[in-house]
Amino acid sequence: MKTTRRGFVGSIALGTAASVLAGTSLLSQSARAQTRAHEKSDNYDDGIMQLNQNESARGPGPKTIQALHSHVNKRVGRGYAPDHVDELEEGIANYYNISRDYVLLATGSTPLLQGSVRAFCSADRKFVTPMPTYSTSLSTARQIGAGIEEQSLDSAMAINLDALAASARGAGLLYFCNPNNPTGTVHGPQAVERFVRRVMREAPDTVIHIDEAYINYTQPGKMETALPLAMEFENVFITRSFSKAHGLAGLRIGYALGQPQTLAKIRGAWGMGDVNMLGAIAALTALEDKEHIAWEAQENAEIRSMVIGAFHEMGFEVGDSNTNHIFVNIRRPAKEFRDACLEHKILVGRDFPPMEKTHCRISLGSREEMAIAVEVFRKVLA
Ligand SMILES: Cc1ncc(COP(=O)(O)O)c(C=O)c1O
Repeated sequence: MKTTRRGFVGSIALGTAASVLAGTSLLSQSARAQTRAHEKSDNYDDGIMQLNQNESARGPGPKTIQALHSHVNKRVGRGYAPDHVDELEEGIANYYNISRDYVLLATGSTPLLQGSVRAFCSADRKFVTPMPTYSTSLSTARQIGAGIEEQSLDSAMAINLDALAASARGAGLLYFCNPNNPTGTVHGPQAVERFVRRVMREAPDTVIHIDEAYINYTQPGKMETALPLAMEFENVFITRSFSKAHGLAGLRIGYALGQPQTLAKIRGAWGMGDVNMLGAIAALTALEDKEHIAWEAQENAEIRSMVIGAFHEMGFEVGDSNTNHIFVNIRRPAKEFRDACLEHKILVGRDFPPMEKTHCRISLGSREEMAIAVEVFRKVLA
């Protein structure tokens, strides 16, 4: 069984280094038992443990599941003007205390990433991106033949905001993933504000996209949303996703927050899809269930410490993660590690050039999954 909120409460206490280690050895025993039973276990989808997609291993909270159950029989046969979608938009606006015109819903944040590149980039208006980072916007820039500038991370594997700002003149769009996927690094509010104000001063026609998909997984005090900057500057917008801490990747809901003129340009450049009734009611419930998001963040943080601790114990460096994945210096090509893990029915992350010769991204699954996975990593990296 995967960890659920009910099943978890009171079961394993982690937090201090000693208890993390104690938890690891207890979990190792259960890992061995579960490895034998893995074909039947729900730790594996079609026989493979999926540690490659950065989804929530735990899915939505009990209130959201309840909302889905109680709406599934209601009007699913009618949905061309789906219930609850307006309510979701209104709910998001109320949540941030902004007007509805400042919210753009989409079927996941993916269409917003694609639409923004189409809206603001062209052959003469380049797309600027750190590397490695989340690559949907870059793929879109390639598809439309936009100019592209890729930038290295700094020595701490963080996005180099000075370099990004220095490339802003003449650019159509700067993509800034905060926290960053795959490295998990984060920039605090002062650094973000300094960066945005510099770009808006030196290149006021350039648009900045701040992708906050992983904001709910950050370590306490490490970051704040850039929403106030998006409210202040027409050329700054942020995106959010219900696919991560809210556990709704399968229902495809995301949104952008920004000034109405900017959102209209994104919507005009690409289809945002139609958010459906069940997705809308689930997202609205998940958004308001702060208790569940706090639990999800805590659960992820404890699993993250346990797995990072295990890698340190094995002698491998891991980046400072503020997400539900870790980026490990495995000192060998990611493909080699990926293939070896797959022999043990575990799928880890794809290549992230230019670091694919040394680093691999591992999405964090449930406690049970990671206990099994850590044993496999030990074997494969031995
Ligand atoms: C940084 C980042 N942004 C956006 C997305 C897209 O997510 P979705 O379309 O499910 O909202 C992902 C997915 O992994 C991501 O890592």
